[in-house]
Amino acid sequence: MESAPAVCIGIVTVSDRASQGVYEDRGGPAILDYFRAVLTTPFEPVARLIADERQLIAATLRELCDVQGCCLVVTTGGTGPALRDVTPEATRDVLDKELDGFGEQMRAASLLKVPTAILSRQIAGVRGRSLIINLPGKPKAIAECLDAVMAAVPYCVDLIGGPKLQTDPSRIVAFRPKN
Ligand code: MTE
Repeated sequence: MESAPAVCIGIVTVSDRASQGVYEDRGGPAILDYFRAVLTTPFEPVARLIADERQLIAATLRELCDVQGCCLVVTTGGTGPALRDVTPEATRDVLDKELDGFGEQMRAASLLKVPTAILSRQIAGVRGRSLIINLPGKPKAIAECLDAVMAAVPYCVDLIGGPKLQTDPSRIVAFRPKN
């Protein structure tokens, strides 16, 4: 019997200092922990740890979407106003369609937790059959932001021709409108 194709999820930590080994990457592992807790569909994580360089971020996103075939790619870091923060620009460079509601919803939910959530320029959108979502660099922001949008992620992945993602309903109830 043929086994189902592996579901691939890209995890990209964007940080000059973590990529130079100045400190440990805690964002990437936090994203992996989140999906291990929330998704019941088995998946293969493909993780990358890179510097805040627009071309490098864009190339990494293209590789995870087009070569690795990840249905979902989540970045952490580089969304703020600092000079080196260019993750949203690099993401926009590779998107076919932007999904504005993701950034709006994540910021709105985060603002209930921390006033500086307004500093994140995080965006999301679709490249081919991949959904790309930016998250801020703070590890605690990862669950705060993903919890705000995750109910819509499986249906978005359905709509772009990706695999059927299932969630643990005790964590997130995936919403799929009935036709
Ligand atoms: N969102 C949540 N949910 N929790 C946070 O702690 N930190 C904010 C914001 N969004 C934060 C958050 C801060 S302090 C900054 S500077 C911006 O995200 C941008 O962070 P980044 O440049 O590391 O991506």
